[in-house]
Amino acid sequence: MSSVSLEQLSSQDVVDSTRQLNYGTWRYQKNWSPLHIVDAEGCHFIDSTGKRYLDFSSQLMCVNLGHKNPAVIEAIVEQARTLPYIAPGYATTARAELSRLLLEVLPKGLVKFFFATSGTEANEAAIKIARMFTGKTKIIARYRSYHGSTMASIAATGDPRRWPMEPGGKGQGVIFAPEVHCYRCPIKHEYPGCNIACADYLEHMIENESDVAAVLVEPVVGTNGVLVPPPEYFPRLREICDRHNVLLIADEVMSGWGRTGRWFTVDHWNVQPDILVTAKGITSAYVPLGLCATTARIAAYFDDHYFAHGHTYEAHPMTLAPAVATIREMQRLNLVERSRTTGEYLGEKLRALAAKHPCVGDVRGLGMFWAVDLVKNRATKEPLNTKTDKLAGKPLVVDQVAAEMMKSGVAVQAWISHLVIAPPLIIEKQDIDLGVKALDEALAMADRHVEA
Ligand SMILES: Cc1ncc(COP(=O)(O)O)c(C=O)c1O
Repeated sequence: MSSVSLEQLSSQDVVDSTRQLNYGTWRYQKNWSPLHIVDAEGCHFIDSTGKRYLDFSSQLMCVNLGHKNPAVIEAIVEQARTLPYIAPGYATTARAELSRLLLEVLPKGLVKFFFATSGTEANEAAIKIARMFTGKTKIIARYRSYHGSTMASIAATGDPRRWPMEPGGKGQGVIFAPEVHCYRCPIKHEYPGCNIACADYLEHMIENESDVAAVLVEPVVGTNGVLVPPPEYFPRLREICDRHNVLLIADEVMSGWGRTGRWFTVDHWNVQPDILVTAKGITSAYVPLGLCATTARIAAYFDDHYFAHGHTYEAHPMTLAPAVATIREMQRLNLVERSRTTGEYLGEKLRALAAKHPCVGDVRGLGMFWAVDLVKNRATKEPLNTKTDKLAGKPLVVDQVAAEMMKSGVAVQAWISHLVIAPPLIIEKQDIDLGVKALDEALAMADRHVEA
């Protein structure tokens, strides 16, 4: 690395500094060569050579409004001018405005809010609140899940990002249930004949474990495959939790904020969770904000019990004002409705790929949230790569597909053996066509891995 002054950094200096001085997340550090990004606007971002990329997964499924929305930027600037920071013990206009707006858009019954600065922190809050409120310890999560990187959230994460923490580094008290995954059912059932036995098994767990405080689930599982449950699954979970006095926590960090065609995914089934956790789209990711929303019953408990949680950055004004602007922009642009309608168009186009490419095992999704699941063999549904391959740092076919798409100027997120397609909710149909075309072309490479 050359010792140039900051003003003179070349693009290569930026990449070299990043590689040498920073950790790349969730990866082996060797061979990390991050692209230098210099600008972003709408559904695109731009690298240091001027090349534009269609942001077909909204970065990490979070830039729901698209890049550089002027109203959100203005809210950040205005808040910085007015009151950049004040401790959480004080009242602020930004907090009051956001909290009132949340009452409008969140599922009914969620009336008291704790603000954090990420999804994982919001889940940590939810788990602590559930334990304090119920006086019980265990959290039931599911294998196909991601809830965050910090101690309790990673312990509640079913996917292999938890494995390096096993067993000594993992927080205690989480047990795992089978996921609801109708394409690749972990208990080899077939819907609807199964009568969603995967939900009933959670009841069996609760009855046999004792001391269960909460069930923590992503209403539509995100990174781990965009798994959309059958319509009766969530109402059944609600009944089971009620029967056993166990809290239901909906992790809507990724699935919230219009992503699935409703403000929140639980709205599809009219289910009210006891706690809803969210982040990402709440500010379209422009500033880091997480939210843990609870019911009046939980709120009332803490009137006379010590609320043992907090952060220096809780309810940080710089994070809250842009959330107000984000929600207003979503309302103004009618983005929830748009996610539903444009999402149908996207889904149709993706489904058409399955007819063309033998590597496509399944295409599933809701709203503007889709997965294209790649397989070696459609009959056996064997994936192209495994969780073990991922953790071992083996080259994955989905990463090669994503790299091909980058060459064509389309960025997508890939995970183990599927791609997550989740563009900004403002995307136009012609950009969907371009993104799907790039995917179509790149899938030819994956088709070569299909067993004859
Ligand atoms: C469902 C879910 N929960 C929690 C998290 C963690 O959020 P963060 O990365 O903001 O900590 C994520 C991140 O992708 C997520 O998808």
